Amino acid sequence: MGIMGMIYMVTMLFSLIILILSSSTVGFDYFQFTLQYQPAVCNSSRTPCKDPPDKLFTVHGLWPSNRNAPDPEYCKETTLNVTKIGHLKAQLDIIWPDVYDRTNNVGFWGRQWEKHGICGSPTIQDDVNYLETVINMYTIKKQNVFEILSKGKIEPEGKNRTRKEILKAIRSGTKGKRPKLKCQKHTGMTELVEVTLCSNRNLTKLINCPDLFKPSSQYFCPLIGIQY
Ligand SMILES: *[C@@H]1O[C@H](CO)[C@@H](O)[C@H](O)[C@H]1NC(C)=O
Ligand SMILES: *[C@@H]1O[C@H](CO)[C@@H](O)[C@H](O)[C@H]1NC(C)=O
Ligand SMILES: *[C@@H]1O[C@H](CO)[C@@H](O)[C@H](O)[C@H]1NC(C)=O
Ligand SMILES: *[C@@H]1O[C@H](CO)[C@@H](O)[C@H](O)[C@H]1NC(C)=O
Repeated sequence: MGIMGMIYMVTMLFSLIILILSSSTVGFDYFQFTLQYQPAVCNSSRTPCKDPPDKLFTVHGLWPSNRNAPDPEYCKETTLNVTKIGHLKAQLDIIWPDVYDRTNNVGFWGRQWEKHGICGSPTIQDDVNYLETVINMYTIKKQNVFEILSKGKIEPEGKNRTRKEILKAIRSGTKGKRPKLKCQKHTGMTELVEVTLCSNRNLTKLINCPDLFKPSSQYFCPLIGIQY
């Protein structure tokens, strides 16, 4: 093989590697819909939340994700077009507040859209569709973790819970699908801070969340002693 042949081979090999790497980081195979428990979020904050938190789970974000590769982020330069979302704002203020600073809700949705939402194409068509999809999932599709827990008789009473009872209550509201739980340690307690429900890539059905926090993670929820 001549020198040109070598160069050709090496170039092709590199192109192939880059193609594989970029397709796995830009694509996605499922969605995470993450809800956060406001009082626990405020407890984790370095600066106190400006308004007192509600004892509710509200939306953190809807994230295109990958089972076996990094989740895509910032897939394309974009900004949220604020002039188009007026009709959604009242509802989003309730279900998707910036818990740290509610005067900044629009900024929060914009950051989620720019970092995650834009990567959800073609399931997510544009910025307005991203926000509408979140509303739809929380309301019509009933992926409202607070309601789901409440139906399972788990109310936010600051009690010591087992992981099993939390999972059981959530599964009973999600056709048995396994959620992803996130806990955090705070002043000697372990608090439930986030619950993620997972859906297939076209958002037509719930699936078992594939990627749970490992026991070695600071966010792992232990078997017993989970505060909610
Ligand atoms: C937040 O921290 C306070 C004070 O440490 C505690 O009383 C409260 O239970 C915590 N909230 C949650 C949701 O764990
Ligand atoms: C935002 O949306 C409005 C109304 O649809 C449109 O007129 C305007 O050009 C858009 N702005 C940008 C920066 O895309
Ligand atoms: C959604 O995705 C599933 C598999 O991921 C596929 O079987 C189904 O046909 C898709 N539905 C639509 C409407 O594209
Ligand atoms: C909750 O459980 C933890 C760990 O099992 C324990 O240390 C703590 O004392 C319990 N708290 C209450 C209020 O029962």
